[in-house]
Amino acid sequence: MPATDSTALRSTVCGTLRAEDTGQIVRLAGWVHRRRDHGHLIFIDLRDRSGTVQVVFDAEQAPESHALGETIRGEFVLAVEGKVARRAPENINPNLPTGEVEVRADKVRLLNRSETLPFPLHEESSASEELRLRYRYLDLRRPRYQHIFALRHRALLATRNHLASRGFLEIETPVLTKPTPEGARDYLVPSRLHPGCFYALPQSPQLFKQILMVSGFDRYFQIARCFRDEDMRADRQAEFTQVDIEASFVDEGDIQELVEGVITEMFRAAGTEIQTPFPRMTWEEAMRRFGTDRPDLRFGLEIGDVSGIVKGKGFRVFDDTLAGGGVVRGLAWPGGASVPRSQIDSLAERAREWGARGLAWIKVEESKVTSPVARFLGEDTARAAAGAVGAGNGDLALFVADEPETAATALGALRLWLGERLGLIPGAEDDTEYRLLWVTDFPLFEWHADDGRFYARHHPFTAPREEDLDKIESAPEKVRARAYDLVVNGSEIGGGSIRIHNRDVQDRVFTALGISPEEAHRKFGFFRQALSFGAPPHGGIALGVDRIVAILAGSASIRDVIAFPKTTSATDLMTGSPSPIEPEQARELHIRVAAVRQADEPGEPLPADPADG
Ligand code: AMO
Ligand code: AMP
Repeated sequence: MPATDSTALRSTVCGTLRAEDTGQIVRLAGWVHRRRDHGHLIFIDLRDRSGTVQVVFDAEQAPESHALGETIRGEFVLAVEGKVARRAPENINPNLPTGEVEVRADKVRLLNRSETLPFPLHEESSASEELRLRYRYLDLRRPRYQHIFALRHRALLATRNHLASRGFLEIETPVLTKPTPEGARDYLVPSRLHPGCFYALPQSPQLFKQILMVSGFDRYFQIARCFRDEDMRADRQAEFTQVDIEASFVDEGDIQELVEGVITEMFRAAGTEIQTPFPRMTWEEAMRRFGTDRPDLRFGLEIGDVSGIVKGKGFRVFDDTLAGGGVVRGLAWPGGASVPRSQIDSLAERAREWGARGLAWIKVEESKVTSPVARFLGEDTARAAAGAVGAGNGDLALFVADEPETAATALGALRLWLGERLGLIPGAEDDTEYRLLWVTDFPLFEWHADDGRFYARHHPFTAPREEDLDKIESAPEKVRARAYDLVVNGSEIGGGSIRIHNRDVQDRVFTALGISPEEAHRKFGFFRQALSFGAPPHGGIALGVDRIVAILAGSASIRDVIAFPKTTSATDLMTGSPSPIEPEQARELHIRVAAVRQADEPGEPLPADPADG
């Protein structure tokens, strides 16, 4: 028994009692998980963080305790003293770690009562996520969450220990700061002392960690909270946690090797051994074969290129696309020859939502091929094209003709859809296979046709490959970045790069991004200056802690692994934030609020308090 389990109100914890403890007098404290009244005998499952144990109130042996036991309800808090006894063989519960024993209550003290819960905790609740989030503190009492947060703690502790053992220093950077461009909107905090001025909450500690390298700290890390005002999804929260890392005098391989060690330790904290080094794949290959920069390698259905096969065979759409520098690519739906026409048509509709201009298809059967494009291509070419993407007899081949990135993205989405549909992607809970890989050699820039300018694919501080430096001005789209993303099972769990440490190169990249010297000075003047005082070559990465823990815990959403998460509309249902402010506070902060709300009207109305009856 760890010494720390013993406190003033208890001698040990519920979940660790075993047959060997028979005969011991123990003092326990915890919540009434469940209560069963058999008249003479009352059984309760007493629960604390460590688990549950059965406690028996016997009317003959301990009449006072039994009398109290009659008044007890679910989630009351009790202190119990009694003897550990072996259960009769027929009463042993093999599903419970403490199932061989029970505690015969001798003395019982009621430490607190509880109102009837809005949803039960001792069974899988059908309560809505909204209700559970309002009462997050109750939901967190469930063993599942007790397990998740212990796991999160162990994973972060292992991370700290590993990085410390490699000479990394944990240094905190400000939360009230200036905007850092990571591609999302900023959360702003008005300044009371500087009318009209605002701090930004960091989207990441990016600039500070680079400046720490200029300061000579050499190897830095931080378990950092980041804030991004972006649309939320299952794997995105407005505030989330990164293991943020930066080191000097390193190259890509150094950071990757270090991170493989960190990830190994995190997985080990969850009881899983993984293989290192992780495979590496260029961005170009990932896009070509899997149609995404975060390929899920747990299943096949790879994308194939049939441009050479269909070229000049008389199908206008294909020929025009190829003439314009595009590609024709596709993938196979094994067994898809039996899919009815109507379903293919609705799939083509979806493909348009994924950005494709159309979806050509070829059904391959022993006796014939069926396809709206076969009359142009001819049966032989149709069979050859289908075969080239892996579609044989009984299969369906699906094709998209477009410029390479659009075709890749649409087929990547189609591949995931198909993987899901064919049952090739296990649900988060059942997943035991972890396919980790590094995706490397991203393009530095990304062209946005809507506003006609280049954006940084990662952030503007990512270093271009040395041999591509001269293309920054002449062919920005061809510049490759010294960036690397860490991917597992189709999820991006980390991203980083070697950075620009030369101020001139940094300015050239700003210019290529359409950031004028004045704007660069205004936004990043401090950083540009820091680069000019002997900045060492450096690089780093940030790992998405919430995503990693969700994967380790088998959770489909990172909301499960954040103690007090926000909803998809960025509200905290428990506290009712965001909420309006008092007029006086707005005055002090020199802000005028356009959307008027009463200060006593919370952003999210709280339900009536059951204790107020
Ligand atoms: P990046 O923006 O790729 O890089 O973020 C790093 C990792 O953080 C996780 N992540 C998120 N997790 C939950 N909710 C979000 N809204 C969210 N956004 C990102 C992802 C991602 O891979 N400063 C750079 C890192 C660097 O270059 O060193 C950065 O922040 O798992
Ligand atoms: P159409 O000649 O436009 O009727 O197209 C014939 C078939 O080609 C239809 O099944 C379309 O969905 C498909 N198609 C049209 N454009 C594309 C495209 N860019 N890529 C793949 N298939 C396409």
